Amino acid sequence: MLLNICSSLSFSALPNQKPLKIDVAFTPETIDPLNIYDKSVLIVDILRATSTIVTAIENGASYLIPVNTPEEAFKLYEQLNKNAILGGEIEGKRIKGFHLGNSISEYTSSIVKGKAIIMRTTNGTRAINACKSAKNLVIGCFLNKTACCRYIIELGCDILIVCSGKEGSFGIEDAVFAGACVNVFGQLMSNIEKTDSALACEMMYQQSKSDILGLLRKSEHGKYLINISLEDDLILCAKEDISTVVPIYFEGKIINSDQ
Ligand code: MLT
Repeated sequence: MLLNICSSLSFSALPNQKPLKIDVAFTPETIDPLNIYDKSVLIVDILRATSTIVTAIENGASYLIPVNTPEEAFKLYEQLNKNAILGGEIEGKRIKGFHLGNSISEYTSSIVKGKAIIMRTTNGTRAINACKSAKNLVIGCFLNKTACCRYIIELGCDILIVCSGKEGSFGIEDAVFAGACVNVFGQLMSNIEKTDSALACEMMYQQSKSDILGLLRKSEHGKYLINISLEDDLILCAKEDISTVVPIYFEGKIINSDQ
């Protein structure tokens, strides 16, 4: 796998090494695609797209293709001679005609192992497609938090964490996860420069780290998912560091970075 390395940083940067800048965008709508060509972008959608993607790759899915509309998904499905799984949601519920919704419990190894998945969600897949011009595009969530932070540090590029949010609005669960990553970066690297948004997220994380599930339950989207009987998803998405897979977007597909 060809990695787009910026500089071979060890975890504690060499003296006089330019500090790595860490920034956070609260929605993909604020991203200038022309301004991420030299950055490692970490896409976050805790509830639930990036949690689902990490689970699917952990359970052996060959790759995922993120699309923005159900129509795109069905067209691609035909192009692939229906040799794929259709997964995703509208308003949190499985799209009519899709095989799977967006609950990580659906993406078991017996279902996804060795399969291609065409994925459409309201926020997460849109955020991924908005950041395709990044030097490196990494998929993270609480499930693979430390693994994805370590992977990103090895790339040695400035870091932009992109929160998917909720239809163009701030989503606190994504911001708190961004803060968790800022905290990990600070622990693993001595020479980092945090923007105010990164610092704010880290402060939010410090307030929430003792009860991530409680934070998800209080979030707008978490309350919505509970209302449509998907509280179990929150329990699964709150688990920290249960996976070491790091999915990346590479040449149009989301694949396991160690492929
Ligand atoms: C998404 O994952 O894009 C959305 O947050 C919708 C969801 O899965 O409930």
